[in-house]
Amino acid sequence: MIKEITAHDLNTEKFITEKVNEIRAAVGSGMAINALSGGVDSSVVTMLGHRALGTRLRTVFIQNGLMREGEPKRVADIFKKLGVTVEIVDAQKEFLEALKGITDPEQKREAITQTFYKKVFGRIVRESGAKHLLQGTILTDVDETVAGIKRQHNVFAQLGIDPQETFGYQILEPLIQLRKDGVRMTGKALGLPEEMFNRIPFPGPALAARIIGEVTQEKLDIVRKATAIVEELLGGQGAFQYMAILHDDRVTGMRDGKRDFGRQIEVRCWDSIDAREARPTKLPFELLETMASIILKKVPGVVSVTYNIASKPPSTIEAV
Ligand code: XMP
Repeated sequence: MIKEITAHDLNTEKFITEKVNEIRAAVGSGMAINALSGGVDSSVVTMLGHRALGTRLRTVFIQNGLMREGEPKRVADIFKKLGVTVEIVDAQKEFLEALKGITDPEQKREAITQTFYKKVFGRIVRESGAKHLLQGTILTDVDETVAGIKRQHNVFAQLGIDPQETFGYQILEPLIQLRKDGVRMTGKALGLPEEMFNRIPFPGPALAARIIGEVTQEKLDIVRKATAIVEELLGGQGAFQYMAILHDDRVTGMRDGKRDFGRQIEVRCWDSIDAREARPTKLPFELLETMASIILKKVPGVVSVTYNIASKPPSTIEAV
């Protein structure tokens, strides 16, 4: 049974000191490795690990090609300013290859998970010689696994490592007693900038969760451009989460006096407390019109922009 530390009870300085000491004690004179995605949990773990181990923590950012515009460099630059070196590993081809021909949402998620753990990160861990892996598991992940919402995951098995045969591997999960609010507080206390500790939620499968149907390079380029526009325009609205979705089917449009059987972008913007229930944000119509005109002008091949007005449930926040 994991003992929860609520945000109310959390003393960030005491927590950080304890976790830094625990990481140091576990790793001894060895080295540790972690994967940074740029999300809040992995960012906080990176800072804790760095504080504990300095350069004996190797932090890798896996560029899976499914990220938002400029994301790998942006994240690496932010950490560089904090004195943390982030190694960007280009694995775009492997992920695109794994996603080829897949249209089913769960199969897409599975392909991404398998490629991440078994192929890319698993290989890096095995080759690194690090025996300690820092992971940003939080208490909500544990609850969701127990409740069957998340798949039970044995990280070693996913990495292709058999701890029985390969003695000595250890996973360290310093955030496991916290919920998201406690993680954000810890991130702030560790000196992360607000844009990192207060980021809006973004799914693990990244832009692949925003493409209906097969994920291709062309579709990724379209949804990435539309996402940048939506995030830029909706950033100041106080919404819980906002996104652009690329539909699989095409609709008739007109461009330069000719029929253009083009792409459709759906914009979603949600008000929510914890993502369990959500309602579309009542955005000003002028803002929606401005957003549509920018998307139509700047994103190649798009002839239709819609705004979702269905609530969760029965809708979900992501479309895939
Ligand atoms: P849904 O779409 O289920 O999303 O209403 C609820 C929240 O979870 C995020 N989400 C995911 N996060 N991997 C993640 O790490 C996923 O596969 C995934 N699917 C959805 C979603 O962005 C929302 O905040």
